[in-house]
Amino acid sequence: MSADHRKQPFIITLDGPSGSGKSTACRRVAARLGLGYIDTGAMYRCVGWAVREAGLNLDDEKGLEKLLADLKISFRPAGTENRVFCNGQDVTRAIRTPEIDRLASAVSAIGRVRRALLPLQRAAGRSRPAIIDGRDAGTVIFPDADLKIYLDADLETRARRRLKDQAGEKGIDLEKVISAIRERDRADSSRANAPLKMADDAILIDTTRMSLDEVCEEVARLARDRGFTNG
Ligand code: DC
Repeated sequence: MSADHRKQPFIITLDGPSGSGKSTACRRVAARLGLGYIDTGAMYRCVGWAVREAGLNLDDEKGLEKLLADLKISFRPAGTENRVFCNGQDVTRAIRTPEIDRLASAVSAIGRVRRALLPLQRAAGRSRPAIIDGRDAGTVIFPDADLKIYLDADLETRARRRLKDQAGEKGIDLEKVISAIRERDRADSSRANAPLKMADDAILIDTTRMSLDEVCEEVARLARDRGFTNG
């Protein structure tokens, strides 16, 4: 078999900070191009949720090891959404709270957690063409991806988008969201394990002044340029 024989389906990685519009863009592009959508952030959120359910202290290495060994995460498509299940429970909404934002960020800095999730993330991209939503999708999970994109937007724009996502939560305002995102950016970019950074061969799209349709159009155009055809 020749060395350049394709060993994996077409993979697009979409990395970037919170509120850059990654997950919405990924869902839309996945539906439009007929790709699977792999939300790696939701996997870290599930770990954060499971840690809270178990009342586990993050310093408890043995407890964390057991929690990770028993962890079951699955996604079920429902319309344009993915429902997220963790340990048999539908956690789709429960993992989108400010508390789980913080816990997911904290667990994502732990090497043991990242090592446990990596094979699940890779396996999900092996079975069919997919778009991977993450922080290290292009740098660590799929370094050989066919197309790597890094989405960014200015801090206030990202905070406004996040605020819209969390509409209905009590006691949240723009200033609080800006400072929470600033803190999360700092933690996600400065951690030793797989920090948020743009892959050298990624293409930057600044979404500050772009509509969702324009972002999706651009990603679809880049995918076609790289040889992706659906059907
Ligand atoms: O994309 P998100 O906000 O759902 O991600 C939740 C947390 O998980 C966030 O703090 C960053 C972290 N994360 C990560 O470290 N690596 C990934 N591939 C995806 C998310």
